[in-house]
Amino acid sequence: MSRCRLASFARACLLLLAGCCCSRGGADSNVAVYMPDLVEAKLGDTAIIKCEFALPENGSYVYVNWYSMEKGKMERKKLIYMVQGKEHQDEPPNDRLSITPDFFLKINKVVLQDAKNYVCQVGFGMHGVAENRSELRVSKAPEKPEIQRTNRGISTGDPHLSEIATCTSRNGYPTPTLTWYKDGVPLKMDGNEIEIRPGLIKESSGLWTVRSTLSAKVTKEDRSAEFYCQVSYTLMGNNKTSKSDSFKVDVHYPSESLRFVIDAPGPDVKEGDNVTLRCEADGNPPPLYTLYRMEEEEVSEQGSEQGFLHLYNINKERSGVYLCKVLDLQDVTLEELTANVTLLVNYLDEPVITSVPPVTSLRQLQEGEDALLTCNATGSKPLAFHWEKKGRVIEKGNLLNLTNVGFDTSGKYTCVVEMPMPGTPAVSRSKQVQVTVHAKPVLVARKEVVHVQSGEMVNLTCTGYSTPPLLISWSVNGSVFTSVMQGHQRNSTVLFQVTEALLESGVNCTAKNRMGTTQHHFMLAQRQEGRSPNAKTEQTAQESKGVIIVAVVICILVIAVLGAVLYFLHKKGKLTCGRSGKQEITKPEAHKDEIVVEVKSDKLPEEAGLLQGANGEKRSAGDQVGQFAMTSSGGLQR
Ligand SMILES: *[C@@H]1O[C@H](CO)[C@@H](O)[C@H](O)[C@H]1NC(C)=O
Ligand SMILES: *[C@@H]1O[C@H](CO)[C@@H](O)[C@H](O)[C@H]1NC(C)=O
Ligand SMILES: *[C@@H]1O[C@H](CO)[C@@H](O)[C@H](O)[C@H]1NC(C)=O
Ligand SMILES: *[C@@H]1O[C@H](CO)[C@@H](O)[C@H](O)[C@H]1NC(C)=O
Ligand SMILES: *[C@@H]1O[C@H](CO)[C@@H](O)[C@H](O)[C@H]1NC(C)=O
Ligand SMILES: *[C@@H]1O[C@H](CO)[C@@H](O)[C@H](O)[C@H]1NC(C)=O
Ligand SMILES: *[C@@H]1O[C@H](CO)[C@@H](O)[C@H](O)[C@H]1NC(C)=O
Ligand SMILES: *[C@@H]1O[C@H](CO)[C@@H](O)[C@H](O)[C@H]1NC(C)=O
Ligand SMILES: *[C@@H]1O[C@H](CO)[C@@H](O)[C@H](O)[C@H]1NC(C)=O
Ligand SMILES: *[C@@H]1O[C@H](CO)[C@@H](O)[C@H](O)[C@H]1NC(C)=O
Ligand SMILES: *[C@@H]1O[C@H](CO)[C@@H](O)[C@H](O)[C@H]1NC(C)=O
Repeated sequence: MSRCRLASFARACLLLLAGCCCSRGGADSNVAVYMPDLVEAKLGDTAIIKCEFALPENGSYVYVNWYSMEKGKMERKKLIYMVQGKEHQDEPPNDRLSITPDFFLKINKVVLQDAKNYVCQVGFGMHGVAENRSELRVSKAPEKPEIQRTNRGISTGDPHLSEIATCTSRNGYPTPTLTWYKDGVPLKMDGNEIEIRPGLIKESSGLWTVRSTLSAKVTKEDRSAEFYCQVSYTLMGNNKTSKSDSFKVDVHYPSESLRFVIDAPGPDVKEGDNVTLRCEADGNPPPLYTLYRMEEEEVSEQGSEQGFLHLYNINKERSGVYLCKVLDLQDVTLEELTANVTLLVNYLDEPVITSVPPVTSLRQLQEGEDALLTCNATGSKPLAFHWEKKGRVIEKGNLLNLTNVGFDTSGKYTCVVEMPMPGTPAVSRSKQVQVTVHAKPVLVARKEVVHVQSGEMVNLTCTGYSTPPLLISWSVNGSVFTSVMQGHQRNSTVLFQVTEALLESGVNCTAKNRMGTTQHHFMLAQRQEGRSPNAKTEQTAQESKGVIIVAVVICILVIAVLGAVLYFLHKKGKLTCGRSGKQEITKPEAHKDEIVVEVKSDKLPEEAGLLQGANGEKRSAGDQVGQFAMTSSGGLQR
């Protein structure tokens, strides 16, 4: 190998010398170098410029020289060369350059200045010298175009072209071009409606920044058009494009019509609703509005300049025709637009109740009179009336005919009026009136006939109601007892002892007021023997107590006597002490005790009746205290 190299080097030297001598001597027509006309490279990338050749038979290359030539010039500058596989650089050396094993020129990190013609010259020794050339083109994609919009809105009324936006795409190479689009259609200068002003800036880096300003006359339809700008450029020999963000133009145009509406919770507005009146002009920007009710000239409502009027908790006074006026300064004719809405607030006033004859606190109805109550109300729609008493509907319609009034007629009457509204619950109002009837007292007595026992204490109760206030009195035994208190409702109780005279005459309960007197007659009837007296006979507590005391005392005595007798018989040995015998004696005693206790409780009428029935047998036996004593003992003796 090394021998071979030395040999070839020596030969190369010879050839080189020969080449130098014979360079002018014309090249061998058999040798040629092949290179592409054009090489494309992206800025910053690595470029490789190919240089290919075929060695003539038995020949070999001697050297490869790379030259650069500025475009349009003939003078060349030697960059780098290779002789017998060894690379050399001319001064000043450029470390981005190198020669590949295939003798290609490699340029690292391509810069714009690398865009030149490159010559590859190959020396074939005695076969001569051949060369060819390539152009290196450097390209760089520009940045995405950016839009700078005109801040102000663009008026359709402007007779001049208005600047709409400027598009800028930076740092491209070679020079890119910009095109404007509206809704996907490219815009062209027409010298009348559209003007496009291009701009080109060479940056210090040598890259190009392109710029384009679009001016146009706008129409109202342009408010929804999508505008954008597109940059077209060449990269590595390919045509490419990049679009800006699309945007809309703030087109200012005058209002042509007004929309004036009422926003309400339902189809019909009623008192208490919250309502908004909204006026909308179709111009851009929205003009200043003037909203007011025709009846009032002054406008103090908030928001009315923005075109709305909030009316909270509305009442019928707000009804009327509302006007919305707009003076749009965009409109060159300065014509005023107006619109109107009619707001109708449905209402239902509180009903008014009138009465014939009048019912007031000063003048009340007298028993037996007639009265006609009329309920009257005003509302914006047909009304439905009815009357209620104690929550129940007692009459349909607005008239209430009270005939032949009595105490029962008294009370609170409510007139309810309803106004049906489609789409919303009916509006309802009501009014109450107090009707008071002056009448004779009404007496509620428990019974007509009271079964009593001569000599016992009896408690009778009489309940009376009336307006005006009443007094209750009792006539017992020829005397009259009058309750001290008077009122609209009274319970009166009288306590007396039954005498033979009272059994004859009975007892009268009398209720009296300004209007008159009502009497109830209690008949006193002798309780029949063996018959159960009425459970509700008024039995005095004292009597019960007396019975208990006497019964207990007698019980103790009987037990003592029985004990003594039993003890005596036992001593004499005449009584056998059987179990059953003892039970027979104790059992009735317990039974007797029960009876006594139940009388006291006064709650089991049958048991009490048994005892009292026994009393009845001995009823003739005498006076008050003795009677109790007799009754009790009689019950136990049985
Ligand atoms: C240069 O190279 C091209 C193609 O590679 C070839 O067609 C052309 O003939 C060459 N020119 C010379 C002068 O050799
Ligand atoms: C090439 O070399 C061979 C021997 O090495 C020789 O025979 C031949 O004639 C040579 N051809 C030419 C054209 O010199
Ligand atoms: C690139 O665009 C240019 C000019 O617009 C045109 O002449 C050329 O043919 C295009 N090249 C390709 C590859 O489309
Ligand atoms: C009306 O608006 C007021 C305040 O926003 C609110 O308190 C009230 O509940 C509204 N009334 C109705 C009927 O919606
Ligand atoms: C309200 O508008 C109608 C037409 O929409 C018009 O005929 C009427 O005169 C207007 N009323 C007022 C008071 O402006
Ligand atoms: C009810 O009221 C209306 C208006 O307030 C009145 O015209 C009418 O006479 C009244 N009717 C009665 C029965 O009071
Ligand atoms: C009220 O009722 C009485 C008795 O039924 C009748 O005579 C009178 O006409 C009625 N009045 C009205 C207004 O209906
Ligand atoms: C009832 O009158 C009689 C005599 O007429 C009298 O003895 C008795 O005490 C009177 N009783 C009452 C409760 O007034
Ligand atoms: C009268 O007695 C009845 C039941 O006996 C009772 O409901 C009512 O409250 C009493 N009235 C008065 C004023 O004491
Ligand atoms: C009770 O009233 C009646 C009439 O209702 C009368 O005849 C009788 O004398 C009165 N009795 C007494 C005790 O006042
Ligand atoms: C008679 O009844 C009243 C009320 O009911 C009562 O306060 C009073 O004690 C009762 N009198 C007797 C003797 O039962």
